[in-house]
Amino acid sequence: MEAARAVRVPDEPPAAAQTNDEVLVLDFGGQYSQLIARRVRECGVFSELLPHHVPLEEVRRRRPRGLILSGGPASVYADGAPALREELLGLGIPVLGICYGMQAMVLALGGKVRGAEVGEFGRSQLTVTEHGRLLEGLPAQQSCWMSHRDTVYEAPPGATALASSTESPVAAFEDPGRGIYGIQFHPEVVHTPYGTQILERFLDHICGAGMGWNAASVAEEQIRRIREQVGGGRVICGLSGGVDSSVAALLVHRAVGDQLTCVFVDHGLMRKNEGDQVVAAFRDTFKVPLVAVDAEDRFLERLKGVTEPETKRKIIGEEFIRVFEEEAVKLDGPKYLVQGTLYSDVIESGGGTGAATIKSHHNVGGLPEDLEFELVEPLRELFKDEARRVGVELGLPERLVWRQPFPGPGLGIRIVGGEVNKERLELLRDADFVLQDEIRRAGLYRELWQSFCVLPGDLRTVGVQGDERTYGYAVVIRAVTSDDAMTADWARLPYDLLERIASRMINEIRQVNRVVLDITSKPPGTIEWE
Ligand code: XMP
Repeated sequence: MEAARAVRVPDEPPAAAQTNDEVLVLDFGGQYSQLIARRVRECGVFSELLPHHVPLEEVRRRRPRGLILSGGPASVYADGAPALREELLGLGIPVLGICYGMQAMVLALGGKVRGAEVGEFGRSQLTVTEHGRLLEGLPAQQSCWMSHRDTVYEAPPGATALASSTESPVAAFEDPGRGIYGIQFHPEVVHTPYGTQILERFLDHICGAGMGWNAASVAEEQIRRIREQVGGGRVICGLSGGVDSSVAALLVHRAVGDQLTCVFVDHGLMRKNEGDQVVAAFRDTFKVPLVAVDAEDRFLERLKGVTEPETKRKIIGEEFIRVFEEEAVKLDGPKYLVQGTLYSDVIESGGGTGAATIKSHHNVGGLPEDLEFELVEPLRELFKDEARRVGVELGLPERLVWRQPFPGPGLGIRIVGGEVNKERLELLRDADFVLQDEIRRAGLYRELWQSFCVLPGDLRTVGVQGDERTYGYAVVIRAVTSDDAMTADWARLPYDLLERIASRMINEIRQVNRVVLDITSKPPGTIEWE
């Protein structure tokens, strides 16, 4: 369970909400709140996450087809626990409470919730006693995912209890006359096999929401909006090869064609062939005007002798901006800057539609005061997997669409405890290439959040190769699974795969004589080594 976020209400409803039916998820701070909105969208209904205390006026203004109250970390009886405003239940809009959302609803309507000694966490068995409208067509016995301590033991007066589980006498209830529905379990997680069906029943049969929304329709709408915003103006985009900036750039190119120029700064800290792939996709396939700057020497010159991680990051960030700025000036000062901001970034940073004009240094770090851009952010309404779908729709190559996250300072922060120089970068690039190649061949690339190598820069270890004693580099393999990089687990790569990776690295890269595996989760470790 995590602390509640500070989700703000955007000043303007997003474009998708103006042309599609919408269901709002009110966030009580639950760890799965974002996931609920994603699942609703997967059902074809546009959805946004708003704070549980969103003004009623705002809810009315949005005219959602339904409301979903999320789970939350608190007990309904805890001091300061967010209470449910009863008025939300009287707007004539169907409401589905999930976990905490259901308990808050039950409490507000005169049902009974007790703080239980025993919690119910993980998989649980649900017994449906009455199908009602919400659970119609579902089996009487099914498994579901629970994560709660407080328990509802009496449904509100006038409502019907629909199901129970071992620890929850009332695990689901409804009062269709008042448009009120509650479930104790989490339909949004994959461990509740009928979860999507339950959400669909709520959205379709109960809310009557149109199910026609999809990420591709957002693309069309965004292209129209970009044209409206930019008019005949010039646009610049810093392309990194990551999926967010790539999809954003392609959308803008579809909208305004050659008014867009992409700038790809190769700082020499990219992985093998990465720069070439970006240039090939954008310049050759999509015919996007692209300035590719080979700035390796500049970066390496400034990184000479630097070992302190934050200093390295600062130098790389500053130098990046300097190069980007030089190119912007050469392009005769474009007015608009494309950013691949995603909906999850918007939520994490407290929401809001964002000021239309910002000083660019807030985003790309340190441009001079006189260089101001107006932002073009066509992915602000999309989750990452939705942005990927748009990428596929636009014809972006698989390799770019499914690229694992790669940090801005690149391999610069993966040579640790020693100087970043050309020889070490070369070695790390080769090791990384072997790792990615083997992981892709094993079909595991997409399952991993990130997989990469770390090179302890000044460390040499002894080995014996042939009849000779060697002092070589040790390469660290780091592979993690994660949903959002906030927490991560080390990936259990098969032993035979690890063996192939290690022997290829040692055989194919002369200076490597040892390969080790990082088995630290986050927390306590971080994903990167510095
Ligand atoms: P950590 O190491 O903090 O990383 O667990 C979490 C995620 O952030 C990425 N990361 C960075 N990305 N600049 C970036 O653009 C950075 O300096 C940086 N440091 C870490 C990391 O790859 C992981 O996905």
